[in-house]
Amino acid sequence: MRKKVTFVGAGNTGGAMAQMMAARGYADVVLIDIVEGLPQGKGLDIAESAPWTGFSTTVTGTNKWEDTANSDVVVITSGVARRPGMTREDLLGTNAGIVRSVVTNAVTHSPDAVLIIFANPMDAMCHVALTASGFPKERVIGQGGMLDSARYRAFIAMETGASVKDVCAWVLGGHTEATMVPIVSNATVGGVPLSMLLTQAKIDEVVARTKRGGAEIVDLLKTGSAFIAPAAATIEMVDAVLLDEQRILPCATLLDGQWGVTGGYVGAPLLVGAGGIQKVYAPPLADNEVEAIREAGKAVLELVAATPK
Ligand code: 2OP
Repeated sequence: MRKKVTFVGAGNTGGAMAQMMAARGYADVVLIDIVEGLPQGKGLDIAESAPWTGFSTTVTGTNKWEDTANSDVVVITSGVARRPGMTREDLLGTNAGIVRSVVTNAVTHSPDAVLIIFANPMDAMCHVALTASGFPKERVIGQGGMLDSARYRAFIAMETGASVKDVCAWVLGGHTEATMVPIVSNATVGGVPLSMLLTQAKIDEVVARTKRGGAEIVDLLKTGSAFIAPAAATIEMVDAVLLDEQRILPCATLLDGQWGVTGGYVGAPLLVGAGGIQKVYAPPLADNEVEAIREAGKAVLELVAATPK
């Protein structure tokens, strides 16, 4: 039987994810939204691309949860996006209610799924999803570090002139401007330390640009936030689960003592395969990076405490 993936929320992000997933050609795709016509329209448009894209899997746009039944992975993109001047934290109250409701519906129909959380503020929304689903933490994964690392790698490639394929650099910590931790101490390009390729001033610029990466796109688009890099980052995680790829990816999980952080969703290198998270790694980092990750742990717990129940 073919694998099945549901994208909850048919906005720009859910639509882009559905399109990228369909093009992979190995899993049936469901796009669900509360707005009538929107998921059906996007789903049909994607399905009609199949003859030229070359996939034989199905794409279903729907407003009915029954159509999502028995999904292997459910990606939660629902919620409002930022507008210029807003932080991800500003979305807390509105998106918590939405995420709680869609997760409850999703897991009723797909009790064995792995949940990937995209909605913002992502770290806090992971806590909402974990509680609402009742799933073990291995099956509720936050995607923030994947996107932030994509931006970090892209900026390093732009500054060094090297192919992005050779850039191995990760963003850990949280998915807010204040809590993101672009890791410099073990960043390399083709095995060459970043510090040998760029001046400290240039590295500082790249780090700062990475932290503002989401806001840079919001400022340019003016009417919404990024969706292409977010979709690509998320589909890489879906592949890791559905194809049991055993990838080590920078995603958010509930830490349990790593770097001294306990009980908060924070980005770390996770071994991801069938069934979700298989292992959490806490590699040695520079002291200031560890301290920043600890601050991210504290900050997410403050957001959790401020989340309307
Ligand atoms: C971003 O960083 C939407 O949080 C997302 O662009």
